[in-house]
Amino acid sequence: MGEKKFTKRGVDYPIVDGTRTLPGKYYHSREIYQEEVEKIFYKFWIYACRAEEIENVGDYKLIQVEDESIILTRDKEGKIRALFNVCSHRGTQLCTEPSGNFNSGSIQCPYHAWTYNLAGDLIAAPLMKEGDRFNKKACSLPQASVYNWEGFVFINLDENPVPFEEHMEALMGKFSDWKMAELRIAHHIRYDLNCNWKLILQNYQECYHCPGVHPLLSEWTPVQSAQHDAEKGAVIGGFMDLTKERGSMTMDGEAAAPPVCDVSGDDLQRIYYYSIFPNLLLTPHPDFVLFHHITPEGPGKIINDCYWLFRPEVIADPKAKERIKSAVDFWDLTNRQDWQVCEQMQIGTKSKRFTRGYYSGREDILHQLDNEVLKALGHNLAD
Ligand code: FES
Ligand SMILES: [Fe+2]
Repeated sequence: MGEKKFTKRGVDYPIVDGTRTLPGKYYHSREIYQEEVEKIFYKFWIYACRAEEIENVGDYKLIQVEDESIILTRDKEGKIRALFNVCSHRGTQLCTEPSGNFNSGSIQCPYHAWTYNLAGDLIAAPLMKEGDRFNKKACSLPQASVYNWEGFVFINLDENPVPFEEHMEALMGKFSDWKMAELRIAHHIRYDLNCNWKLILQNYQECYHCPGVHPLLSEWTPVQSAQHDAEKGAVIGGFMDLTKERGSMTMDGEAAAPPVCDVSGDDLQRIYYYSIFPNLLLTPHPDFVLFHHITPEGPGKIINDCYWLFRPEVIADPKAKERIKSAVDFWDLTNRQDWQVCEQMQIGTKSKRFTRGYYSGREDILHQLDNEVLKALGHNLAD
C-alpha cells in the first residue's frame, strides 16, 4: 500500500477509492432544495451573525433563511433575541433595512403602528382594547432559539430544537485558547456564487483538489498533512500542518499577526478546517480566524460571506494593515480558485450523462457529509 494511507485522529487507514457521489439532481432539483430548506435550514442550528454586529442595545441585523426573515437584536437586558420579522396584527413585515438600531427601544409596524419592545412583547395596539378575544400577551413576536458560541450567534427556527451543545459537541471547548468572542471583524468580502450550497461544503472539506487548484496553499500546507479529527454530529473536519515555522496563510507564508491569545504548541503550526453543518465554515489559524457564512438562494445560487477576524489591538495598529491585507489577499485568491471549480461543477452536474461520480479515498469525508444530508432528508441511496 506504501503511501496509500489516510490519517484520521492520528490513526492510519488504507485509502478506499470509489464510494459514490450524490446524483446530479441533488444540486439542481427544486423539490430536493425545498426539502433541504424544510428539513435542514428550518430545523438545524444555523449560523446567523457575529455578536459584535449587534453589540449595543437596539442594534439589529436581518437574517434571511429562505422565506423566513429574522430580526437579530439585543434587548434592554443585553440578551440577543431572534424575532420573526412578522407583525402579529396582519402579518406585515416589520423591518426592511438590513441592519441598524432601533433607537426608540421599540419596533413599530409601518402599517397600523402596533409596537413591540426589543424582547418581542406587544406594548401598543392603537385603539384596541384588551378583552376576551384580544390580549397583548398572546401577540408577542414569535422567536427563534439563540446560542452565542464564542461570539458566533447561532439560531434555530424549529420549535423544539436539539440542544446546541449536542449539535456542536465536537467543538464546544476546542478553541478556548483563541478567545474567539474577543476577536473582531477586520475584513469582509461577499461573494455571489452560481452553485449549490453543498458544493461549497464539499470543496472546503477536501484537499484532493489542492495541488492543481491552489499551488500557493499547497506550498504552505502540503496536501499529505491533512488529518481529520472531528466527525461527530454537525461538525466535520480536521487540520493541515504549516511547513514554515510560525507561518500562516498569507501571500508570503509569514504570520499576519502574533499568535492569538493563548494559542501554543502544535496549534502554532496548524490550520484547522471545520464545516459546521449546514452553513458555517470555520478556519482557525494561529494568528487569525477565517470563516465563511453560506446563505442558499435556491438550488443553484448562494451568497458566501467571508470574514477575517483578528485581535482588536492588531486591527487598531496601523503597522499591521499590510499584514492583514496579505491574509485577505491570500484567501481571496484561494476563494476565487475554489469558486471557479465549484461553478463549473454546478454546470457539469446538470448534464443528463452525469449520474453519480466516484470519490477518491482522500474524499471519504465527503461521503460522510453526503450521508449527513441524506439522513436529514430521510433519503436512501443504494451505494
Ligand atoms: S399589520 Fe402590523 S400593525 Fe397592522
Ligand atoms: Fe480549495
